[in-house]
Formats: sequence, C-alpha cells, structure tokens
Amino acid sequence: MQAVLCTHFGGPDELELAQLPDPQPGAGEVVVAVKAASLNFFDTLIIAGKYQLKPAFPFSPAAEFAGVVEAVGSGVTAFKPGDRVAASMGFGAARDRVVIAADRLVAVPSNVDFDRAAGLIITYGTTLHALKDRARLQAGETLAVLGASGGVGLAAVELGKLMGARVIACASSADKLALATQHGADATINYASEDLRDALRQATGGKGPDVIYDPVGGPYSEQALRAIGWEGRFLVVGFAAGDIPKLPLNLVLLKNCDVRGVFWGAWAERDRAAHNANVAQLMQWCAEGKLAVHVHAVYPLARTADALKAIANRAVMGKVILRP
Ligand SMILES: NC(=O)c1ccc[n+]([C@@H]2O[C@H](COP(=O)([O-])OP(=O)(O)OC[C@H]3O[C@@H](n4cnc5c(N)ncnc54)[C@H](OP(=O)(O)O)[C@@H]3O)[C@@H](O)[C@H]2O)c1
Repeated sequence: MQAVLCTHFGGPDELELAQLPDPQPGAGEVVVAVKAASLNFFDTLIIAGKYQLKPAFPFSPAAEFAGVVEAVGSGVTAFKPGDRVAASMGFGAARDRVVIAADRLVAVPSNVDFDRAAGLIITYGTTLHALKDRARLQAGETLAVLGASGGVGLAAVELGKLMGARVIACASSADKLALATQHGADATINYASEDLRDALRQATGGKGPDVIYDPVGGPYSEQALRAIGWEGRFLVVGFAAGDIPKLPLNLVLLKNCDVRGVFWGAWAERDRAAHNANVAQLMQWCAEGKLAVHVHAVYPLARTADALKAIANRAVMGKVILRP
C-alpha cells in the first residue's frame, strides 16, 4: 500500500511517498481502507517537530480518517468487513490502509460522505467540547469566533448557531467572512482592517460577547479579551498565528470573567465515554443535515505537501482532505 511518510522533522516537501506491506489486524484490531483522511493545522507542526506530540519515525501525518472496514482481528464483534467507519488517531492516516483498535472506531451513517466524516471528529469534536463542556454556552448568549472560516472556527460558527447563540464571526478577509455568514454567522468583523476590541463592543451594543472562541492567538487574543462581557468565558483553543499571547490578568479581574483552556485530545483520552457521546451526537447532526463540514479542497496522497502548504499559508477555508 501507499503511505505518506515523515522520516525526519522538516517541511512538507521533505515528506516521502512510500510502499509499505498491507497491515494485518491483531486481536481487538480492525484494518480500514482509508477513503478520506483529513489534515488539520497541527499536521503542519507535527512534521516540523514543533507540536507537543512527537511520534517515532517514520510516521504518517493526518490524525483522522473515514473508510471501509476490510478485516477484523479476533475478539472484534462491533464491526465487520464492509462497515463504514471513522476515527481520530493522533497521526498516521495519510495512507491507503490503517490498523486501529476497534474501540476507537465510530460508525458513519450511510448519508454522510467519507470526506465530511473524515473532517468531522477533530474540528467539531474540539468545538463541541469547548462550547458545551468548557464554556457552557447557553441559548441566547453571544459567541465571538476568531479564525471563523478555519477548520475549528467554522465548526464553532455552526455549533454556536445550533446551540442557540448569536454568533459574531471574526476573520481576516471578506471571502472568509462571507463563508462564515453562509454557515450561519449573524454578524462579521474583519480583524485585518478593523480594531477587534472596538468592533466586538459595537457588535454587542457595548455589552461584549459572553463567550470568545480563540484558535488564532497572536495579537487578537488580548484585543478580544478587552471586549469580553461581564462574567464572560474566553476559550483558549490554539495559536495558528504563531505567537502564544500573554494576557494581562487585570482584564480577567475587571470583567469577573474566566479564561478556560481547551485540550480536546487529552480530554477525549481521559473521558472516552463523554467523548464517544459527543462524536455520536455530531455524526447524528451531520446525518440530519445540521452540520456542513465544508471541504475546501481534496488532494491525492502524492500532493500531501501542497495540502499542508495551503494550510500553513492561511489559504484554506474549512477542511483539507487527502483521498488515497
Ligand atoms: N485545543 C485543542 O484541543 C485543539 C484542537 C484542534 C485544533 N486546535 C488548534 O486550533 C488552531 C486552528 O486549527 P485549524 O485546524 O482549525 O486551523 P486552520 O483551519 O488552518 O484555521 C486557522 C485559522 O487561523 C487564522 N490564522 C491567523 N494567522 C494564521 C497563520 N499565520 N497561519 C495560519 N492560520 C492563521 C486563519 O484565519 P484568518 O486568516 O481569518 O485569521 C485560519 O483560518 C490550531 O492552532 C490548532 O492547533 C486546538
């Protein structure tokens, strides 16, 4: 089978396309033919050795996939060859076939295509955990989303609307904001051309957002926190802009507000039952047509480097999919 391999830390062009033996399932494992693997921003970091997770070489990027079960090992009763499944796995999905523990798989409804199923678990899983479990977002509250056209950002726009919030999408260009509006945003702010603090205050009649979802970091975090509402919740999701901001704690005191960290991957390992319930809910919403999982582009495995460069160059809206 074909596999994209990272043999040493470096840039996307240093990835290799290699031939590997087909995997065999061990006890409790399943071999899945990958129909779609999804790339996330952190794949650009993992191959460069700049992410908290540093897998042993050689490894494949892509932390989630959807596909069809080909073979099951002894003791596996929940899945059989032909079943449509998806999973997240940290890394390793940019290849024709994966072998994975059966208890990590979720069933994919027949009306959810593989591209959307592959891109659902990490972005929407992170965001549902962030908005529901961490921020305890309530219907009628105002949610401001930074990086609102990105993978987790667009998920936050859609899930925020589904949870009954008023959503203010914040992004760096008119076309990114137009996409967020198509996905339900009630108001938009271009933080490349507007002062984010002033615009957030203006968009909320001076009150400030109840919840701020920040996967971007850099200069935007402090500007957004300065606008947050009384007893607001500021969600630290990621640092796509590169710089990890330092926030003045007087702002937290003055607003009686909370800064809440979101580490979805660690939470999902610690509380598999709650994670599985969230993913099942997301698959159901997707099957019911309530979540779009917008696909920006689909690349073959041989063009994984181009796909990763598009993400790193801030040129992607929604998900980037690899199709073996
Ligand atoms: N905490 C968790 O559990 C968790 C889980 C998943 C992902 N994350 C993190 O969330 C962040 C976003 O991930 P993602 O997969 O949604 O990424 P993505 O699709 O690439 O979106 C990132 C967004 O950040 C903005 N951005 C600002 N400066 C950027 C830069 N220099 N390069 C790239 N993007 C930049 C872009 O929007 P504008 O151009 O509109 O600014 C872009 O849409 C990453 O830091 C990722 O590691 C965290």
